[in-house]
Amino acid sequence: MSGTVDQYGVVGHPVAHSLSPFIHAMFARQTGQAMSYRLFDFAPEVLEERITAFFTQGGRGLNITLPYKMAAVARADELTSRAQHAGAVNTLAMRKDGTILGDNTDGVGLTQDLCVNQRVIVTRRRVLVIGAGGAVRGVLAPLLALGPEVIVIANRTADRAKALAATFAQMGNVEGVGFRYIAGGPYDLVINATSASLTGEIPDVPVAVIGSDTFCYDMAYGKGDTPFVRWCVELGCRAAASGWGMLVEQAAESFRLWRGVRPLTGPVLAALTSS
Ligand code: ATR
Repeated sequence: MSGTVDQYGVVGHPVAHSLSPFIHAMFARQTGQAMSYRLFDFAPEVLEERITAFFTQGGRGLNITLPYKMAAVARADELTSRAQHAGAVNTLAMRKDGTILGDNTDGVGLTQDLCVNQRVIVTRRRVLVIGAGGAVRGVLAPLLALGPEVIVIANRTADRAKALAATFAQMGNVEGVGFRYIAGGPYDLVINATSASLTGEIPDVPVAVIGSDTFCYDMAYGKGDTPFVRWCVELGCRAAASGWGMLVEQAAESFRLWRGVRPLTGPVLAALTSS
């Protein structure tokens, strides 16, 4: 690959909207790392060969975004345990021995934002996770590792929630239910991991899950508050945050894997949310 600096990038389809080049450019400046980070929009039929070509031509690392996080598992020679649990890869890294490591930093991105930036306590707390798709699978292992009293996974399609809970049952107290059968409430922490926000919808969960001590988190993000964040605030929750912090923290973990240095996330988060 041409150029004198180490090459990185993000693969998606489409990918033009990705903020990762901005984030990693800020990280590189801040830490004094000489590297480039580009967007790669690969069509499904060429995904495998283009990723392989990137690395054989000297590329050092890739982020993988929608819709390829599961497909990218097959491009790794070895997976971290968190990528195995997630069943998905968002980071590929070329190692010194020429093999490619597949990692998933989404879950630790969420727990970093929750525990460090937002100062939310998960240990021995009751957590409600709404949704049962790939986004939830990606974060369950790191959340369960924090030792919550229980994680209730609630999904519009109850069977998906039950199946996901069964998969993670050996890692902690986790249950799967449909929206109508969410027991108890309010919860200490409610996380929206559905794609409902993308269409401006609110998942149809009982309002009793949110109380005045509940911290609410939307893994989605956008300009201003997301519909879910607005809804939680209207219900009188303690505080609510959208997923900007998770976005920046997962990027910082990828950066650390590639460059061996963890950048400060605060300045990047401020730049993204102030514009
Ligand atoms: P992702 O990888 O982003 O998790 P996914 O696997 O397609 O994407 O999962 C989308 C999730 O959002 C699912 O939990 C889906 O619920 P179903 O399993 O019942 O389809 C949830 N979802 C999408 N739109 C929703 C809506 N309007 N209300 C509630 N849940 C919704």
